[in-house]
Amino acid sequence: MTNVLFVVSECAPLIKTGGLADVAGALPRALADHGGEVRVLLPGYRSVLDKLGKTTTAQKLPDLFGGKARLLACKVAGLDLLILDAPHLYDRDGGIYGDETGKDWDDNPERFAALCKAGAMIADAGVDGWRPGIVHGHDWQAGLTPEYMHDLGCDVPFVFTIHNIAFHGNVAGERLDALGLDYGRFDADHFEFWGQISALKAGLMGAAKITTVSRTYAEELLTPDFGMGMDGVLRHRQPDLAGIVNGIDLDAWNPETDPNITPYKATAGKSPNKKAVQAAFGLRKADGPLCVLVSRLTEQKGIDLLLEALPALLDRGGQLALLGSGDPRLEVALHEAAAGHPNVSVKIGYDEALSHLMMAGGDVVLVPSRFEPCGLTQLYGLRYGTLPLVALTGGLADTVINASPAALASGVATGFQFYPVTAQALSNSFVRLCDLYGQPKAWRKAQRNAMAQPVGWETSAAEYHEIYASLAGASS
Ligand code: ADP
Ligand code: GLC
Repeated sequence: MTNVLFVVSECAPLIKTGGLADVAGALPRALADHGGEVRVLLPGYRSVLDKLGKTTTAQKLPDLFGGKARLLACKVAGLDLLILDAPHLYDRDGGIYGDETGKDWDDNPERFAALCKAGAMIADAGVDGWRPGIVHGHDWQAGLTPEYMHDLGCDVPFVFTIHNIAFHGNVAGERLDALGLDYGRFDADHFEFWGQISALKAGLMGAAKITTVSRTYAEELLTPDFGMGMDGVLRHRQPDLAGIVNGIDLDAWNPETDPNITPYKATAGKSPNKKAVQAAFGLRKADGPLCVLVSRLTEQKGIDLLLEALPALLDRGGQLALLGSGDPRLEVALHEAAAGHPNVSVKIGYDEALSHLMMAGGDVVLVPSRFEPCGLTQLYGLRYGTLPLVALTGGLADTVINASPAALASGVATGFQFYPVTAQALSNSFVRLCDLYGQPKAWRKAQRNAMAQPVGWETSAAEYHEIYASLAGASS
């Protein structure tokens, strides 16, 4: 396989706000089985620099968007990293995309343009004697990379993966000079989007191949409902758009070896974990299923639908344990729900260890998202024998087999799907869920099916590899 440079704004285990980091941390290792060398270019946020061990300075960049920068090379958790150390852009308190209050940093356009520019320079001239044959950018933060590659006359093929189309990285046209972009390309065929500079559109138009993280989302993106304004651009690029479902890291998420849980092989071994989750959330033993949910709290994730549908679960003796953080209004609404019912408990915060315990101890993992490009927690649920109850959308549609009467009769069900994505349909699926929970034999069969479903990276890494190989072959 040819060498590949990932350009990405987060990467587990160093820095994570969502599933993008998991993909950037796991896919390079899965691709290594195909023989190529993947290096991951990541901003040197303060919290990232604090976690690095030994690094070497691979390159100095005397002036990158108003300050000195350098590329640090290092290895962390089996990943080959190139860290863009640019203190004027990344060394600050607060989050990686915004300040403590959640407000985006004003200089985000420059912060991520710098990442793209560094990526383009590596593609063009190499670093430390290493050169990529493919540049693979992820989401809008990497979108300007092909523009800067074009300016350098570099024709290394660019692959662009959409993890979430909701974020465009748009900024007023007046920033053209500040971002060092070519005026001649500020048009509809390149990175202009309704008079603004759009990093996302730059990536979509500059990519040799566009991928997104499930087949269904690749289709949904072409529609106005899901394309979020970019559906026209995507329809234009449709021949080069493919959906490749995400996998999960099978070592980090392994019920037999997970250090955060009481390990188990068969579903009978889940019960000490269930007790531990109930204890951690202050819930008592109940007759109905224990539903868990781990998520960013945003409009996307359908938390409001869950709150509306919750009585259907609680009336049948079910329980909810929820871990998440985000929108303050949702946090308040969740606290209110928890205060109003002994079988609802909520923890606001981010807690990796607890999220593992919840996947092990839950009977059901909930993912009621309005849209979900792929989703990872339903995959964790499958692996841990915790049946997913999901909205029928995006990757959730592709990774769960609904417990319909036909699927149950033929013994293939792995979870529950509801459609349309409304509180009413979710309520109905809570009823179905509780019915099946009352049939232990059928429930255990679904759990066994879930645990047997392949959810690793093997197949999907091979699909990325094929794309790289076809592009590298075409450009050489
Ligand atoms: P998204 O990327 O849209 O947030 P995904 O399901 O793809 O959704 O990935 C979310 C990732 O973040 C999962 O690994 C999930 O376990 C993790 N996660 C989200 N919120 C929390 C939290 N509060 N505590 C621990 N892990 C969380
Ligand atoms: C995004 C999506 C999520 C996906 C993740 C990783 O944040 O919201 O569905 O699993 O990226 O691709």
